[in-house]
Amino acid sequence: MAVIDFEGAVKEVPDDSALLEPCEELGVPFGCTAGECGTCCVVVIEGEENLHPMNDAEKRMGLRDGERLCCQLRIKSGTVKIEL
Ligand code: FES
Repeated sequence: MAVIDFEGAVKEVPDDSALLEPCEELGVPFGCTAGECGTCCVVVIEGEENLHPMNDAEKRMGLRDGERLCCQLRIKSGTVKIEL
């Protein structure tokens, strides 16, 4: 099991799972869900190493240090803390 923590709201998810659905339930705002609009941009404040590496959509977005597109995230295991 892995854990996603969005500004103190916590959800357990299976290892190696996509975070779009659980993060939507936790209140992260989404738009396109395809890595194109930037609406779901979050800052990873803990556990970046527990996420799969950036995919091409995230690389194209020109994110700043610590930023990721929540609709593209997959968690490996462990805990990841994010905020807007
Ligand atoms: S919802 Fe559009 S980039 Fe994630």
